[in-house]
Amino acid sequence: MALIYLWPQKVSRSPLRSVSGEVEAELVSSTTGKSSDEAASETAKDEDVLIEVCNVHKSFGSKKILSGASFKIRRGEAVGIIGPSGTGKSTILKIMAGLLLPDEGEVRILGRARAGLAGDDSDERLRVGMVFQSAALFDSLTVGENVGFLLYEHSKLPEERIKEIVRNSLELVGLKDVENRYPAELSGGMKKRVALARAIISDDKLEGSEEVVMYDEPTAGLDPIASTVVEDLMRSLHNHGDQLHGPDSDKEAGGISSYIVVTHQHSTIRRAVDRLLFLHEGKVVWEGPSSEFDTCDVPIVKQFSTGSLEGPIVY
Ligand SMILES: Nc1ncnc2c1ncn2[C@@H]1O[C@H](COP(=O)(O)OP(=O)(O)OP(=O)(O)O)[C@@H](O)[C@H]1O
Ligand SMILES: [Mg+2]
Repeated sequence: MALIYLWPQKVSRSPLRSVSGEVEAELVSSTTGKSSDEAASETAKDEDVLIEVCNVHKSFGSKKILSGASFKIRRGEAVGIIGPSGTGKSTILKIMAGLLLPDEGEVRILGRARAGLAGDDSDERLRVGMVFQSAALFDSLTVGENVGFLLYEHSKLPEERIKEIVRNSLELVGLKDVENRYPAELSGGMKKRVALARAIISDDKLEGSEEVVMYDEPTAGLDPIASTVVEDLMRSLHNHGDQLHGPDSDKEAGGISSYIVVTHQHSTIRRAVDRLLFLHEGKVVWEGPSSEFDTCDVPIVKQFSTGSLEGPIVY
């Protein structure tokens, strides 16, 4: 795993939450043809929806990867995305993060279609962080500089405070006294945890903003105990921003409202996920509580959970 944290991220402002209560811009959904007013009023029925993926299609060249993926992420949820390798799990996360644009369909953030990172209005009420599957640390920077990168670049915090937040963040992922090392001096598992530390860091001056963090295979390649540390960390950071910033911080608890985790690991599903989405052939083919994953009789889920060669998924 690697981590790049997309914060501060530009996210469209919700028409539902504007001060005037009016829709601020006219957007038309590419899939439904509905105006943003209609889309907003539909979304208003479910105020806890933070991210909505609507009928998303995506091809790379002639290869169709996503063909009508739709789902919602609500406030407070811990959602897992599972599915065979190459089915488009990382792709859908990148589309939700605004790094890739869908060919058809749209992603709504707080009820409003996002236009990709470059096109969105700046708004920090909902930030979307992402921990990438492959390592993306800057080799020429120390661990401390990597973890604190965005704070050094964008915040007005004093250096000593940034160092303290970096130290807290590293301690949360079980790493101590590594700030002055370079990525090349770390094991693969340590790099993963540094990436995670960078994903969860944020400016303690940003009060009242919500955050959704997307973790792409955060425990792949970690030993079982390190996996448990990461699984528990994802859980504990959920609405407990004070752990990162310390009890004396002026940041209100409740930073990470929801998280999404792509994983193949049963331990991560059991320990860190409440609701599962099964992605196959470009669509969500099953969703349900993670507690049903091991006992579910739906053939595709059963094949996946048991690792059987017999079933609808053909390799
Ligand atoms: N930028 C890209 N250009 C071309 N093809 C791509 C690109 N990104 C992904 N793909 C292809 O899209 C398909 C889905 O890739 P993706 O990384 O989303 O799969 P995944 O479900 O995350 O798989 P895994 O479980 O192995 O991580 C793969 O066939 C991949 O080769
Ligand atoms: Mg992937």
